[in-house]
Amino acid sequence: MAASDSIAKTYYLETFGCQMNVHDSEKVRGTLAARGYSQVEDPEAAGLVLYNTCSIRDKAEQKVLQRVATFKYQPNGRKFGILGCVAQHNGEALFESAPHVNLVCGSASYNQLPHLLERLENGENRVTGLSLDTDETFDQPQVERSSPHSAYITIIEGCDKNCSYCVVPFTRGPERSRSSESVMEEARRIAANGTGEITLLGQTVNSYRDPSGAGWSFARLLDEVGRVDGVRRVRFTTSHPRDFTPDIVEAIDGNPALCDWVHLPVQSGSSRVLAGMRRTYTRDEYLRVIEAIKAAKRDIVLSTDIIVGFPGETQRDFEETLSLVEQVDYAQMFSFKYSPRRGTDSVEMADPVPEAEKSRRLQVLQELQRRLQLRRNQSWIGRDDEVLVEGRREKFDQWHGHTAQNRVLNFSDPLGVAGASDLRGAYCKVRITAAGPNSLIGELVSIERKPSAALGLRVLQ
Ligand code: 5AD
Ligand code: SF4
Repeated sequence: MAASDSIAKTYYLETFGCQMNVHDSEKVRGTLAARGYSQVEDPEAAGLVLYNTCSIRDKAEQKVLQRVATFKYQPNGRKFGILGCVAQHNGEALFESAPHVNLVCGSASYNQLPHLLERLENGENRVTGLSLDTDETFDQPQVERSSPHSAYITIIEGCDKNCSYCVVPFTRGPERSRSSESVMEEARRIAANGTGEITLLGQTVNSYRDPSGAGWSFARLLDEVGRVDGVRRVRFTTSHPRDFTPDIVEAIDGNPALCDWVHLPVQSGSSRVLAGMRRTYTRDEYLRVIEAIKAAKRDIVLSTDIIVGFPGETQRDFEETLSLVEQVDYAQMFSFKYSPRRGTDSVEMADPVPEAEKSRRLQVLQELQRRLQLRRNQSWIGRDDEVLVEGRREKFDQWHGHTAQNRVLNFSDPLGVAGASDLRGAYCKVRITAAGPNSLIGELVSIERKPSAALGLRVLQ
């Protein structure tokens, strides 16, 4: 039986995982809109239910699989699709474990989505897009962006780095970069629409290689995006230490639109563990990159990812991670307990460290980071910083947003500087008055740039 006509071309889309997935979902939404689908917030009201999924750690994958298994709105011709990393990683086996699934499509096949949707619409019950053998990127002209003030641009997809613990090379396919011209064209379009903040995305964003004759380096591309009329902030994530060349630091130093924040996952502070992880750098090599960043004229802050409890990690290895974290003094850290992933090489490694010990290490590391963050954030009290305002919490009478260095900043307006203006999308100067480990609190000093008139907003009622 087909879904009733009123819901046939409606969809519900839920996104799990990283910023790449969040942005992929914006492109999927654009693709669906181009085919006449409209989005609904309630899966029960949707003709097509989609999950864009993450499989980086077992917990993330189990969460998705449980949701899929218990999905209870499937009958009545409703179609159900799994997109992204779990789709690619589990493939057609998903049809066996969850027979109500109709579409299984990995991110390397999103270019095929219009065709796959057509097949679903024509009544096919099991449709797949699972090829990883691609040199294409998913350029989608009708991206439906979630925010009018901040936009993602994918510049490189996939990953060739082959770290021994990671599923990404299997779920997202080989590295493939977009031409610099196509990235610039998208940046200009975004800025002309009034969006001032752009984040360049890639699993290893600084491994970018311009496939066109222009042959731009990543640093050149970064700099040029920062010079587009109307662009006030450019971020980029995630960087790989091996490809973090000095010209990137020079670009940040020479162009104030480039944010003074770099996310540079180290994963471990022990060269022995880094070798087992196949990260292609030693502790000292990583620290030399950090030194080059710290030697910049601007105060560039750093954030990182760390895995504790990699197979065979000793207490001594772990202590090296702690000492590296203390030495670098990261502004932010994402830390995880090692999760064995099917198909990766580290699954085969002997792992005598008990789970409880891994949990203890994670706690110790997070406690250290909390202390470092609190100290760092408190040093901001009394200084001014600029925030891009993202929203408002009425209950606290506070606005909130991120600084260029990616700190969360909540602020009030005790002097009534903003009057009745809606500050969302404005860049504001704020005096910091208090700080916790995860955020700053402040008071509005001035509005530096109002939200673009192109967005046609403004005045709180
Ligand atoms: N187990 C735990 N953490 C992992 N990450 C990637 N693979 C694994 C794994 N198997 C972490 C890394 C990476 C971040 C996105 O997720 O720290 O940088
Ligand atoms: Fe995974 Fe390593 Fe590639 Fe990052 S660089 S996505 S950790 S394989």
